[in-house]
Amino acid sequence: MISAIPRLGSRKVKGTPTDQALIGLTHIAIPVAASKIKIDNKWRKLLERHLSIDLEKEISGAKEFNSKIGEIIEVKSNTHSIKIFLIGVGENKLIDQRKLGAILGRRIKGSPIKLLSLCPQDEQQAIVHLNGLALSNYSWNLKSTKKSEPIEFLISDEFKSAINRSEVLVEATWKARDLIHTPSNIKTPKWVADQAKKMAKENQLSIRVKSGREIAKFGGLKAVGNSSKKNPPCFVEISYKPKKSGSKGKQIPHVVLVGKGITFDTGGVSLKRPYDMMTAMKTDMAGAAAVLLATVAAAKLNLNVRITTLLMLAENALSATSQRPSDVIEHFDGTTVEVINTDAEGRLVLADGLAYADLNLAPDYLIDVATLTGAATLGLSRHFAALYTRDNLMAKKFHEIGEVTGDRIWQMPLVDDYAIALESDIADLNHTADKYDFEAGSVTAALFLERFAGNRRWFHLDIAGPARSESDSGENPKGGTGYGVRLLTEWMAQL
Ligand code: BES
Ligand code: MN
Ligand code: ZN
Repeated sequence: MISAIPRLGSRKVKGTPTDQALIGLTHIAIPVAASKIKIDNKWRKLLERHLSIDLEKEISGAKEFNSKIGEIIEVKSNTHSIKIFLIGVGENKLIDQRKLGAILGRRIKGSPIKLLSLCPQDEQQAIVHLNGLALSNYSWNLKSTKKSEPIEFLISDEFKSAINRSEVLVEATWKARDLIHTPSNIKTPKWVADQAKKMAKENQLSIRVKSGREIAKFGGLKAVGNSSKKNPPCFVEISYKPKKSGSKGKQIPHVVLVGKGITFDTGGVSLKRPYDMMTAMKTDMAGAAAVLLATVAAAKLNLNVRITTLLMLAENALSATSQRPSDVIEHFDGTTVEVINTDAEGRLVLADGLAYADLNLAPDYLIDVATLTGAATLGLSRHFAALYTRDNLMAKKFHEIGEVTGDRIWQMPLVDDYAIALESDIADLNHTADKYDFEAGSVTAALFLERFAGNRRWFHLDIAGPARSESDSGENPKGGTGYGVRLLTEWMAQL
């Protein structure tokens, strides 16, 4: 079952409200800060009369309620079926809105719901809050019994211009999650390319899919992907241009996004061990899903940027045509690379994408997104992506946007002293940085990728940690999180 995306909407609760504002609602969430109810007085009176409750009394009567973020008093009306959540909002800051949304969303998950939340205090807060509410309601399975509850989340109509933006972000993240959750017997490279074609058509994006002889120069993509005869590799190029370009004379920035799209990662000949580590590896295309859906979201919002999105799609299989440790391959830009461990396949497919972008696309910003290294997860666990770049100012911007959207990043250093680890006796580079034992696997992987980015403003997001969640937590479901869709979309919106 692929669950339905919650509907978003608004109700008039300012000015002189009427009973009509209550029609059909199952729940109302009311913010409480420092034991005070933070809603319009007229509306509150209406509610109290209509539901015959006394909200202040409920708060003073509640034990262990300190108005801390996420604390909830549940109030039932004697005369009406609407339930009230009095929810502590702390200082009600912008970055708390997502948390509050997720707490409410989880609380009511699994039942038919029409919830009106009065937590957001402005339009920006409303976007973040709706995202948290809707995304925490995600579920995915292939059970043959179909059951899908209609869910609707409403906010005050003062902020209703937030609804469209939230709808776009929620839908895109939702679809990225669907792609990531799909098992790899269904999700072949061609299947992902077909999904991309469908989305491109719906959003008037141009798209080209290349395979076979057309990817002859993509030595890394071929070396990895030809391990599967049945599901061969392919390269997808999608482009977006805004319908009407911005201020005359001013060039709009060109962003190139490159996504790691390994539809399953067995490790190849360097087989993953212990073997149960492998079951999570259907999610190894989460980078490709993120860049694809961020592009779709950007198009839906008609953002004033030019985007070219490259999906590096391949399966890393174990077969007679798998590459071998010790092979030497040649990348798109002619760089030769000695393959050490066939489980470090991500950087091989990305190297071709980055080189192609640098040589053919003249990007102003070149960004790759990849579930690249277990080492990144060791360093930062699952709540942050590792960001590598030489552009510290822009890294700060990514950090700020990450804190608000929930796709958080932490900038990591490109340690030049470790670059000698990439030397090879027989090729330009060895691909796992196996010389001199520096460890720092996420850093050296980034240093490898940087060799293919030319002199571009380059950003590498290692999302091995946050792309997947081990449990339902916050707005993330167990499994693929859709990390990066909100971050990249909001970042492009601010260029
Ligand atoms: N897809 C994995 C990285 C990964 C591991 C993502 C765990 C999510 C969870 C990647 O292809 C990989 O296998 N990387 C190796 C690199 C090593 C062989 C140099 C790793 O991190 O162990
Ligand atoms: Mn691997
Ligand atoms: Zn991988």
